[in-house]
Amino acid sequence: MEENNTAVDMQDNQSLDGQNSQENQPKKKRGGFTSKIGFVLAAAGSAVGLGNIWRFPYLAAKYGGGIFLLTYIILAVTFGFVLMIAEIALGRKTGMSAINAFKKLNKKWAFLGVLCAMIPIIILPYYSVIGGWVGKYFFTYVSGGGMSAAGDNFFNGFISSPWQPLLFFFIFVSVVFVVVLFGVEKGVEKVSKFLMPALVALTIGVTIYTLTMPGSAEGIKYYLLPDFKKFSVKTVLAALGQLFYSMSLAMGIMITYGSYMKKQDKIESSVHQIEVFDTGIALLSGLMIIPAAYTFSGGNPETLGQGPGLMFVALPKVFAKFGSVGGGILGALFFALVLFAALTSAISLMETVVSIVIDKFHLSRKKSSLIVYVGTLLLGIPSSLGFGVWSAVSVGGMTILDMFDFLSNSILMPIAALLTCVFIGYVVGCRNLTDEIERNGPFKFKKFFNVMIKYVCPICIAAILVTSILDAFGVFSI
Ligand code: PHE
Repeated sequence: MEENNTAVDMQDNQSLDGQNSQENQPKKKRGGFTSKIGFVLAAAGSAVGLGNIWRFPYLAAKYGGGIFLLTYIILAVTFGFVLMIAEIALGRKTGMSAINAFKKLNKKWAFLGVLCAMIPIIILPYYSVIGGWVGKYFFTYVSGGGMSAAGDNFFNGFISSPWQPLLFFFIFVSVVFVVVLFGVEKGVEKVSKFLMPALVALTIGVTIYTLTMPGSAEGIKYYLLPDFKKFSVKTVLAALGQLFYSMSLAMGIMITYGSYMKKQDKIESSVHQIEVFDTGIALLSGLMIIPAAYTFSGGNPETLGQGPGLMFVALPKVFAKFGSVGGGILGALFFALVLFAALTSAISLMETVVSIVIDKFHLSRKKSSLIVYVGTLLLGIPSSLGFGVWSAVSVGGMTILDMFDFLSNSILMPIAALLTCVFIGYVVGCRNLTDEIERNGPFKFKKFFNVMIKYVCPICIAAILVTSILDAFGVFSI
């Protein structure tokens, strides 16, 4: 979610995008983060969202629990660290957003900016479908239906009905659109300063409760202890895609944020803080949801592996334990906070897409926002209907929503990350970026950074990608 409170002067720039302000409106001052903590909070704000609370737990449950967790943490401190440093340094060095940063350093690589720009365009519609589901749950709890939400068929009944999910999806996108159009981000940012800590506190509270529920020990073991027999290339691909998604990497967003960072602030330590924040919330959400899902399903692999529905199925059952009044209040509070996190993340996603449209087509902010709004609605409809009337449409066993999710997170983002490494390692040279990072103090992990960017990251990402594509085409199975 977005929290540029201290920080990005969007009003001045019309958008989060640097080029817009630099080329189209040369006289306007480019905004910037006023302090390091402002930068860290804003970047962490973009990173923390549904990815942490909804997506991480269901992937961890699906891909074997502890082994996914271990893989994720290893990737976060290696690939995640290096790529986030690289993107932020790239942004700060060029002072531009993705679509132009690559072009500025090398004209032939402009296409990479375009590739990065495509990713949020794919994510926003289906992100909003899930946002709509959260809205439905919030509404259900507020209107006193919390106990029914804990029923076995509530979730499936809801997502497979044709109109209801669409209605909530439309409302969600419309709210995001209005905020982006009128630019009230600043108000949202102020509020999020209070609501984000509230979400963390509530998550900790619910986690403590689920951990003390009878029978939760098995679930905790499943989540925390790696079972190496469950390890496969797919685990790595899923964890890598989740890493990019959760940290808002490989889609140009961190490049834009970096472009607003002050020259005297330290990049390396900022990245450590953002990582700890983002990974911490993901791990905590897993701890809240997976043992609960495990307990209620008796460890049934079908429930654990069900995918996008996990949070919606497991948590209402936990809340129901508090009775209809207590559980109702708890559920309403929890889904209100998740809804808020989802809305602010979607706002930052739409803001990014709108700025891309403004830059590419030189349209006004109003027209661009309208185009993005209608486009998001149209693109989101198939994802929503894919769980009901269009459930027969499936690509490789995936629902339409899963397919978009797979396309962006498991294909396009790894490709964008791979090309970014090649670009930095072999086209502009690591030196160019490490100089930017070393502007104000030593870069402790410089050697590690160089080796990772030039060799380890590109080779590993390429290997993972090729194996998974061969697998998808049935050449061999992993
Ligand atoms: N990182 C966000 C999440 O975890 C998703 C997101 C990506 C939000 C890009 C904004 C921009 O939910």
